[in-house]
Amino acid sequence: MPLLSVKQLDKMFGQHYALKDVSIEIEAGEVHALVGENGAGKSTFIKIITGVYQPTAGQIFWNGQEVQIDSPAAARQLGINVIHQERHLIPSFSGTENLFLGLPYPRQKWWPGIRWKEMERRAEQVKAELGIDIPLHLPVAEMSPPERTLLEILRAMLLDCKLLFLDEPTASLTDQEAELLFSLINRLQSQGTAIIYVSHRLDEVFRLSDRITVLRNGKKAGMLTRAEANRERLIRLMTDEEKVAVPQQRQTREVSQEPIVLDVKDLATLDGKVKKASLQVRRREIVGIFGLAGAGRTELLEAIYGLRPLKRGVITVMERQTSSPTPAQSLKNGVVLIPEDRRGHGLVMNMSIRENMTLPILSAYTSSGAIRGKKERADVREQMTSLNVKATDSEQRVSELSGGNQQKVVFAKALMSSPCLFLCDEPTQAVDIMTRNEIHRLLREQADAGNGVLFVSSDLPEVLEVADRVVVMHDGESIAELPVAGLGAEDVLQLCYRQRKEGAASHEAK
Ligand SMILES: Nc1ncnc2c1ncn2[C@@H]1O[C@H](COP(=O)(O)OP(=O)(O)OP(=O)(O)O)[C@@H](O)[C@H]1O
Ligand SMILES: [Mg+2]
Repeated sequence: MPLLSVKQLDKMFGQHYALKDVSIEIEAGEVHALVGENGAGKSTFIKIITGVYQPTAGQIFWNGQEVQIDSPAAARQLGINVIHQERHLIPSFSGTENLFLGLPYPRQKWWPGIRWKEMERRAEQVKAELGIDIPLHLPVAEMSPPERTLLEILRAMLLDCKLLFLDEPTASLTDQEAELLFSLINRLQSQGTAIIYVSHRLDEVFRLSDRITVLRNGKKAGMLTRAEANRERLIRLMTDEEKVAVPQQRQTREVSQEPIVLDVKDLATLDGKVKKASLQVRRREIVGIFGLAGAGRTELLEAIYGLRPLKRGVITVMERQTSSPTPAQSLKNGVVLIPEDRRGHGLVMNMSIRENMTLPILSAYTSSGAIRGKKERADVREQMTSLNVKATDSEQRVSELSGGNQQKVVFAKALMSSPCLFLCDEPTQAVDIMTRNEIHRLLREQADAGNGVLFVSSDLPEVLEVADRVVVMHDGESIAELPVAGLGAEDVLQLCYRQRKEGAASHEAK
């Protein structure tokens, strides 16, 4: 008897089917991957089984018994846990407080006080047991996106779990952190826990899963065992198109004579996250930043844009020099930041796609006080088509879009302001393979048009595929700058790990 059996599930939002006639069976102890394009219905499926949404039609059986899962608490009671695609944490609460959200807090025996020490002890215990190292005493607002993901993983592991849903868990994790997650998955699996794994990274899917279900436009397009599955077959099931755009052939370009768009000299931030970083981006050039966890990549982009106060250093954008950049000044200079945390910084969730996309450039559409709505809508529609944003129309609220489609809106918004310098933090996280190629193509197009691109990715093959040069960071310092032509992933990783070993050795010597 399967652990979970779902029969003919439908879910409608307004007039639209997000899921239609989906039937899936999950066995105890299996890793079952769920794949499909952005907006295919993966997160909606997860939200139904974890009690966030109610299905429009269909049946759910748990150990052979039909069940109604009418709240997240009801799902947890059955032993169903989830790490959602978007983080569900309270920013002002500490890591430990967030861990225990929704659980009975340990109480004092004789009066209703909470036993904080006991909570901390239990949190530290699970942390040590799983080998996850995050500062639980800090408020979540001060944690980085990967730390928040690790916190949610910890939270899911705090409870007994028969079925665990992971929705894009590795989207902001580095390879090492992802490895940690994979070993946890193996451990859970050997204890008989079933895992439903959602990811756009097909190599992870092949590595982890026993069976793979493909969704397309809310319908089940097929189910394959790992032995039957290969990349081509999966992509064919995922898309209507016969052929997927192949990545462009890269050409090496000579940019040493081009003007410098961005010059960063000896940068250090007040919070010490960036200690000593220097780099340059020329026109027509794409520069990738790579480093292991905690290397300070995101922080460097934020510092350049003006989100982190500087302690030292000079930033020059198109010959305009500053040592105290601000976001307003950056925008004026033609710099855009595509942030990693799109819900936090990238989008206003309760505004429409159109409003979000034209927010920073509204003045371009106003003449004598009135908004030129027609032109605005036409431009928005053009961007939406080119990035294949799946939505009912440009007036749909971004909170109603799937995760990957939100990411596309963030990207489209940046393109709308015609910047001369793009700062992108994980620009393709959570987007499907088709759009990933499209975003790469658009970045290349921007560079070819004479702009500069600086981007951070924890996906080393992506850096090597897209960038002309790679800047390697370690512990807040830029330690090397290498042309990508002829460079292999091994070379870059060796550099990172060697630095880490040397760093540890000198630390011990002190
Ligand atoms: N709350 C909502 N209101 C209206 N429509 C919604 C809502 N949530 C999801 N949808 C729609 O349902 C469809 C499926 O979305 P879902 O989030 O399940 O996609 P997904 O497969 O998880 O995609 P991604 O890979 O981008 O995360 C999309 O068309 C989306 O716009
Ligand atoms: Mg999703």
